[in-house]
Amino acid sequence: MILEVLNYVASWPLTTSAHRPYVRSSVNLWSRAHRCANHWAAHEAHCKAAILSAIDGLRQRRTAVVLGSGLLRDVPIVELAKRFDTVVLVDLVHLASTKAWIAMKGMKNIRLIERDLSGFEQLATGEQPEPFSFLRQVPYLDFVVSANLLSQIGLGAKKRLEALPEATIPADALKTLISAHLDGLRDIAATTCLLTDIAYSVVDRAGRTLETVDLLQGIEVPDPDARWDWPVVPFGEQSADIQVVHRVIARSRS
Ligand SMILES: C[S@@+](CC[C@H](N)C(=O)[O-])C[C@H]1O[C@@H](n2cnc3c(N)ncnc32)[C@H](O)[C@@H]1O
Repeated sequence: MILEVLNYVASWPLTTSAHRPYVRSSVNLWSRAHRCANHWAAHEAHCKAAILSAIDGLRQRRTAVVLGSGLLRDVPIVELAKRFDTVVLVDLVHLASTKAWIAMKGMKNIRLIERDLSGFEQLATGEQPEPFSFLRQVPYLDFVVSANLLSQIGLGAKKRLEALPEATIPADALKTLISAHLDGLRDIAATTCLLTDIAYSVVDRAGRTLETVDLLQGIEVPDPDARWDWPVVPFGEQSADIQVVHRVIARSRS
């Protein structure tokens, strides 16, 4: 608990006021990731392998962008920093612990950007969301990875919608934001890698699935290169008898 408080307190002044409300959930994720490290290890290894495989055949390695970089657990950041001239990390929040780790490793070619990647603001003002339009300003872009961010866009937007008066936002807003993410990735003039959980199942000790929830509003990601399970909430984390297992896919495109 004391480490969480320290990380929270250290991260607060390093975060812009608009993004400070997200520090808490990032610290919670940090804390859970430590508690569940063994259960998450295979998922993190799959993600890193998918990213390394996506950059394998690249002719040029100038700038790489990581969307949803967060705690850098599922991103092979040391390899990316070695292989690219510049690595740009984009997330709502980068915790003090992550910043300190990058500094300690002496990775001087890493840039951090705090940014909302959902496109929610554009949607709220009646525009077509283009969450990755800022990437047009990034010079020599050769690689972009969306690192377990997409499902969070839907979940985050759902919370924000619930706080708004009805009819402020179109009824299919979540679908629109998820499609905008997939379309945006498709339209980037660089190699891309999408890592995302697409659904989760609540499973009991007997292996029975009690509930399955789609995380992408019915939108399918066609032709994934790989699929695996990620026990985000293993037995004992929230309940002795129930675990929550997310289904994850990886898809790279050149
Ligand atoms: C499941 S975590 C993945 C973390 C990261 N890839 C890692 O290796 O630790 C999802 C990440 O998405 C970020 N996120 C959620 N909604 C976002 C948004 N609208 N814009 C930017 N980042 C967002 C969260 O802050 C979090 O770091």
